[in-house]
Amino acid sequence: MRRSSLFAIAAAITAGLLFNLVQTPSVRADDEASVTYPDGYWKWTFLHGSLVPPSFAGFGKSPCAKPCTNGVFYFYANELAAKGLQTGVYADGAVIAEEMLEFRVGEKGNGEEGRRVLTAVMVKDSKRYASTGGWGYGNFDEGSRTNTLDGQARQACHQCHISRKEQGYVFTKYVER
Ligand code: HEC
Repeated sequence: MRRSSLFAIAAAITAGLLFNLVQTPSVRADDEASVTYPDGYWKWTFLHGSLVPPSFAGFGKSPCAKPCTNGVFYFYANELAAKGLQTGVYADGAVIAEEMLEFRVGEKGNGEEGRRVLTAVMVKDSKRYASTGGWGYGNFDEGSRTNTLDGQARQACHQCHISRKEQGYVFTKYVER
């Protein structure tokens, strides 16, 4: 191989490396890993609960089998998100977490929570998550603190939440009680 073509290859590799280095920060800023597990969310403001059927997609990885009859969701807001619920404007740093547990029904119709199937989260950072209305979305499967959502999955979350744009992309409404 001629010296000049070797040089051309080396230059191309260097340019590629430089390009990657320059690109890295913007890739990282929008990386799914930046939405982290909401540590201690069960100490936040409890919002409400809701039931979903055993066919709910959240049971995809570990199906709901008897005595599991439903999934029960509980929703929690950190301080900034609790303020946002009242004002309709969510400051950066607001976080809403939801957890889904099995709901198990016994012979006599009595019911109780079972294992926690997943924890999901919406994290407000208007710059970092500008492409999804300022909210970063995350999902953590049972016993895991690794966000399972890639860019496409986060867009899918957002495409549904977009219908609540006038409420800051949040479905839950503030209820005085
Ligand atoms: C098909 C529509 C739809 C999709 C897709 C969707 N959501 Fe939601 N999300 C809802 C609805 C409806 C509620 C309110 C549920 C309730 O109050 O019981 C909700 C509530 C939430 C909440 C509580 C805050 C709020 O808006 O009330 C979080 C957090 C959340 N979703 C995260 C996610 C994540 C993460 C994804 C993607 C993995 C996702 N959602 C995908 C419809 C959707």
